[in-house]
Amino acid sequence: MAAASSASSAKRALLPWARDAHHALTRVLQGSGGGGGGGSSFRGALPTLAAGRWSLLQRRWRSSLPQLDSTVDRSDEDSGGDIDWDNLGFGLTPTDYMYVMRCSLEDGVFSRGQLSRYGNIELSPSSGVINYGQGLFEGLKAYRKSDRQGYMLFRPEENARRMQHGAERMCMPSPSVEQFVHAVKQTVLANRRWVPPQGKGALYIRPLLIGSGPILGLAPAPEYTFLIYAAPVGTYFKEGLAPINLVVEDAIHRAMPGGTGGVKTITNYAPVLKAQMDAKSKGFTDVLYLDAVHKRYLEEASSCNLFIVKDGVVATPATVGTILPGITRKSVIELARDRGYQQVEERLVSIDDLISGDEVFCTGTAVVIAPVSTVSYQGQRYEFRTGQDTLSQTLHTTLTSIQMGLAEDKKGWTVAID
Ligand code: COI
Repeated sequence: MAAASSASSAKRALLPWARDAHHALTRVLQGSGGGGGGGSSFRGALPTLAAGRWSLLQRRWRSSLPQLDSTVDRSDEDSGGDIDWDNLGFGLTPTDYMYVMRCSLEDGVFSRGQLSRYGNIELSPSSGVINYGQGLFEGLKAYRKSDRQGYMLFRPEENARRMQHGAERMCMPSPSVEQFVHAVKQTVLANRRWVPPQGKGALYIRPLLIGSGPILGLAPAPEYTFLIYAAPVGTYFKEGLAPINLVVEDAIHRAMPGGTGGVKTITNYAPVLKAQMDAKSKGFTDVLYLDAVHKRYLEEASSCNLFIVKDGVVATPATVGTILPGITRKSVIELARDRGYQQVEERLVSIDDLISGDEVFCTGTAVVIAPVSTVSYQGQRYEFRTGQDTLSQTLHTTLTSIQMGLAEDKKGWTVAID
């Protein structure tokens, strides 16, 4: 009885698109759906298979996911390999464990996540993520506490909620906030020897949510995998903490109204690689994108949000669906207001606003807060204030002190892992 009632509450919890897909899947399993008649929007999208073949297929793709490891050894606190903590940069250092949790479209809820050895995963060639880009990612950091007694996370619930919002847009079930935060903590503890010494960097945590089940016609995948891996990182840009140089791109756009620019889908990132590579080949650090309609309003850089300061007023592009709602962005708005910048404006920021700005900086989890010394637009180079007494420098100190547990967290933003 208990199992039946939890199954029915799981079904009640299904999102509208998932309910449709669930019904279509049930019809397929009962042998009455699939490519035949019926008015479902998923008609023809789910595999037309008899129940026996369907369960064989399910077994096949499930068995191809990583072997779970029930004996996670967390005793290796002291050794971080031969790692050069002073020169970390933002590269991939493979760590020991990853966290994996799966969910079928039929169930609609994630359960039984586990740590497994970090390693390659197998996916069906027809998985939703590979074929149709049905996937999201997140990024957050764990810092080592100064007294070596544990680790600190920064606003992990915000990442969980942003993933849930993105999952709704991408027609995927998502883990609960509690499941997400629990999984992040497990991943940090299992990889704790890779958390850099304080002041040298952080353990970057990368949660993924992907349509891992096979699908041929365009439709939500029949199975989802939530996976978290982690890597020790230092500064994101090769400039380190030094100011960066940006170029405004006016031909390639990152997002469009009604698109997915406001969620952290994997499909937002590869399309900007061309602009990013061109910019790097010309010596720029990164690219600033303009809105796709007027080609006049700034949106964000390839991997971070943008702020400008002019006559003591701080402005940042409003999150109207084409801009990623950054967690560092949100925190910086609050910290700037606390410092007396009452006018932190979330609004349209035109290229003219930028050019006439006093100070420009970028924010992001990976980037933290990066001061911008020059922006080039249509062949002209514009310079901005950097260094001592700039808002970006003050905010950088305030934010990182909270993140590392060096300053009192009056806002309840940090989550300790002891
Ligand atoms: C982050 O800042 O965490 C991101 O996800 C950006 C990514 C391109 C490194």
